[in-house]
Amino acid sequence: MKVSFTLNGEAITADVEPRTSLADLVRGEHRCTSVHLGCEHGVCGACTVLIDGKIARSCITLAVALDGTAVTTLEGFEGDALMDRLREAFRAHHGLQCGYCTPGMLITAHDLIRRKGALSEAALRQGLAGNICRCTGYAGIVAAVAAAMDEHGDTARAAAIAAE
Ligand code: FES
Ligand code: FES
Repeated sequence: MKVSFTLNGEAITADVEPRTSLADLVRGEHRCTSVHLGCEHGVCGACTVLIDGKIARSCITLAVALDGTAVTTLEGFEGDALMDRLREAFRAHHGLQCGYCTPGMLITAHDLIRRKGALSEAALRQGLAGNICRCTGYAGIVAAVAAAMDEHGDTARAAAIAAE
């Protein structure tokens, strides 16, 4: 079956089997190796991507459902200031060990900060609860996202003041 969509801003037309997942398509044929497969049944979040700006599990999304959509993997965030802050915060706060969950954590954290702005630690933990870290390094991950969230708030406030 033919399907056309954009992948990280690039137009793609693919001929896929009805059972081909988005994860298999973008990893196997388009070198988006940030898309990690953990559970392959929608539980762990390692395969998280954006579809039309909303987070989605690429392991349980059929490629045939993508027609006309815009798909963004972590590779598509190059030059994104908030993602750069998150990457730096994960480094500074030891937010990763083996790194397998990290692309999904980063995309989920980016989505949370973009939509919510600021969150209590409890709400932040709840927001990240759909992403599992098998190294169980949650304290560092939460600290990293909280730090990026604070910095993002400061930057947004500074921009608002400068615009006044
Ligand atoms: S690999 Fe997709 S949710 Fe676990
Ligand atoms: S850092 Fe290893 S799975 Fe999260």
